[in-house]
Amino acid sequence: MRAIEIRNKYLNFFKNHGHTIIPSAPLIPENDPSVLFTTAGMQPLVPYLLGEKHPEGTRLTDYQKCVRTNDIEEVGDNRHLTYFEMLGNWSLGDYFKEESISMSFEFLTKELGIPSEKLSVTCFAGDEDCPKDTVSAEIWKKVGIPEERIYFYGKDDNWWIAGEEGPCGPDTEMFYDTGKPACSKDCQPSCNCGKYVEIWNNVFMEYFKDRSGYSKLERKNVDTGLGLERMTMLLQGKETPYDTELFQPVMKYLKKLQQQDYIESRRIVAEHLRSSMMIISDGGRPSNLDRGYVLRRLIRRMIRHLNKLEINLDELSTLIDINVENLKEMYPDLEKNQEIIKNVILEEKDKFVKTLAHGEREFEKEIKRMKEIGRNELTGEVVFKLYDTYGFPPEVTKELAREHDYKVNMKEFDQLFKEHQEKSRLGSEQKFKGGLAEQTQETIAYHTATHLLNAALKKVIGKDAHQRGSNITVERMRFDFNCDHKLTEEEKKQVEDLVNQWIQEGLEVTKQEMKKEEAIKSGAECMFIEKYPDIVTVYSIGNVSKELCGGPHVKNTKELGRFKIKKEESSSSGIRRIKAVLIKEN
Ligand code: SER
Repeated sequence: MRAIEIRNKYLNFFKNHGHTIIPSAPLIPENDPSVLFTTAGMQPLVPYLLGEKHPEGTRLTDYQKCVRTNDIEEVGDNRHLTYFEMLGNWSLGDYFKEESISMSFEFLTKELGIPSEKLSVTCFAGDEDCPKDTVSAEIWKKVGIPEERIYFYGKDDNWWIAGEEGPCGPDTEMFYDTGKPACSKDCQPSCNCGKYVEIWNNVFMEYFKDRSGYSKLERKNVDTGLGLERMTMLLQGKETPYDTELFQPVMKYLKKLQQQDYIESRRIVAEHLRSSMMIISDGGRPSNLDRGYVLRRLIRRMIRHLNKLEINLDELSTLIDINVENLKEMYPDLEKNQEIIKNVILEEKDKFVKTLAHGEREFEKEIKRMKEIGRNELTGEVVFKLYDTYGFPPEVTKELAREHDYKVNMKEFDQLFKEHQEKSRLGSEQKFKGGLAEQTQETIAYHTATHLLNAALKKVIGKDAHQRGSNITVERMRFDFNCDHKLTEEEKKQVEDLVNQWIQEGLEVTKQEMKKEEAIKSGAECMFIEKYPDIVTVYSIGNVSKELCGGPHVKNTKELGRFKIKKEESSSSGIRRIKAVLIKEN
């Protein structure tokens, strides 16, 4: 079964079970300050999991484009992908464990034809906070999983929460037995030997955690996630996702071109190419900051491995074409954005080629310095500096050093690199933590202020000024919009005054559900029309602003405090960025 067939089967199955199919949100989250990329299907649904009413009802299903880059350095083994697609179904206060588990079992065994004997499941073992999830285990038994294939684990394995506080609960995970021999007599789903592969995770959000502990939620939700690439690989009996049709055309072309045979490098190129194309297609651009930096690293790592395979970098353009051709049925946007994708990747390639040349010069300088002091080994620090400051890959440093009869202290480098990685991993985990937890009064207020700013810019700059991005923390808001010039002091002041005038007027914020077409016709502002579901929520602020948006928002603009622009600067070509704060006045 091809990946797209699995996706369609999934969506249709849940549609037939009363779910509405909603579109995938973009990879780059709108109005979500806390994450770099969409990392799970539940993420765009956070407001609804927290209690907002979803316009499409209480049963939803979708496929969600996801990017996770915590383990970017591990891509190339046979499991980790930075881009993947997550299939999901949700109950917003509708069905719970019984129906969720029965549907999952039915889908796996009947629709995908997986023999029930190949399935094992895990449930929450219980601890001092929350009891053992015997309810789920009993349901599994009832649908036909024997007791010996039901395992119980603690919070590390069978509990799901996005961050530190928020709705959470036990989950039940389904594992596929690949048929490989057990690594020991204790081999079980939690084991990493590769016999068991996790395929689906159903989270039963029945608790709320805050600083004082756990309490029961009034409205229980279900959130499930099934990784498409992994499922495709298992159903096709393949060892890795790279052996499926999702990657094969690019993998084969790389094999044909390569002068050096490295399977890991081919995988890295194929994976990072798809990932960067998806990110660019959703509006991402390389830079030195946050998500732009992640994209930059993906493209550069891909180029390094093309170099390692000794493939001419001019082939990038053909590689992009091959991927568009292969993936456009699943992601029609790739074809629409083909030229942009190409331009962005090729431009970044040119920059990186220059960086490499620059790094080489720095390297020569270091060697000279070492010679002067009579050493024949480059310290790890030098290798790290070349890597960190000049983007110069350590493998290249090592190779060049060898040519000069120099040794490099890679152990020292590895140590520094590990420390650096740990720091950035903590950084991105910090970012993800916000997901559910950071919906505070402050972020909600900033969210409403974003709508006001959007409206004010239209009045001052012109009605073609549209939102191009937004990022909110508890301390400030950041807003990107298209505009061909730096705002004058006068314009900035006008924008600020307008927003403050609307705040003082105490405008009501109201919410309305309507058909998407009607909403657009009525002049509601939106970022990308095609990604909204058929029925949408529209937030109006008095009669100054009307936007398609999932919320949440304050009830009245009076709650916002005083609006102040802190900075106006260029974000990228044709896009300006405003940083602003709300000041509470007593
Ligand atoms: N939120 C859960 C996960 O990411 C299930 O969708 O695995």
